[in-house]
Amino acid sequence: MQDKRYNDVIDLLLQHRSIRKYEDKKVPDDIIESITRAGQQAAFAYQAYSVLLSRKKERHPFHAPLYFIICVDVHKISKIMKTRNWKIVMNDLSCLIWGLQDAAYMAQNMVIAAESLGLGTCYIGAIPYYADKIAEQFNLPQKVFPLVGLTVGYPAEDPPTRPRYPLDLTLFENEYPILDEKAIERAKKEMDDGYLSQDYYRKNNAKIELSGDREETYDFETYSWTEHISRKLGQWEPSSKNLLEQFKKRGFIINK
Ligand SMILES: Cc1cc2nc3c(=O)[nH]c(=O)nc-3n(C[C@H](O)[C@H](O)[C@H](O)COP(=O)(O)O)c2cc1C
Repeated sequence: MQDKRYNDVIDLLLQHRSIRKYEDKKVPDDIIESITRAGQQAAFAYQAYSVLLSRKKERHPFHAPLYFIICVDVHKISKIMKTRNWKIVMNDLSCLIWGLQDAAYMAQNMVIAAESLGLGTCYIGAIPYYADKIAEQFNLPQKVFPLVGLTVGYPAEDPPTRPRYPLDLTLFENEYPILDEKAIERAKKEMDDGYLSQDYYRKNNAKIELSGDREETYDFETYSWTEHISRKLGQWEPSSKNLLEQFKKRGFIINK
């Protein structure tokens, strides 16, 4: 008998893995439309997104045939409001938070739609740090903020799915538990063993260098996800200055 907890949609979601190698094969326009349309049908707070598309493969991460940049877009709605003789008084931080939610759900719908059609995808997260460059390239009006990149194309690799924290360290009913040493070790083990067994960081050549006076004691035999993420959060961007500057250039004054 079929397990009622699973179906084709859930199977597809559980098979997700980011793709970083793509076939040199064009993605037809009707597929692009279908993916974007599916993205649009995500629940929204105020449809505060726009999607930029580039087909200049040679310029894209992983030389993916398609590169989408999903933006938070407050420009469109302010134009609509103007025709109704309204002006946004909501603070920029709230507009952004609502917009970040809208844009994120839209992006993830695009990922699911793309995967359901046999395509592979990978998010590119550094986009907000060079929002000004993207604004120039795509002629973005004020109040449009590039949030995340998304490479899309037919996969030329077939990697296994990557691990996640154990479910019982993710779903907390009624109360957040005390995360004791044992629980933390369990979470670490699940993630680190999972990534190490795939030789993930060696294959992606993705070891982050140490700065400061910490001595390097890891190689690709031991370097795994919890070390990788620690090096990001423990070394990068201690100041919000860069990002606030990017928001400001795009017309969002967050602490107003
Ligand atoms: C917001 C966000 C930003 C990301 N940025 C990058 C990136 O810049 N480069 C990259 O190779 N993968 C990037 N990823 C993909 C993650 O590395 C990947 O989702 C994670 O390692 C889990 O692997 P999986 O997607 O294969 O399950 C990003 C994912 C998200 C959600």
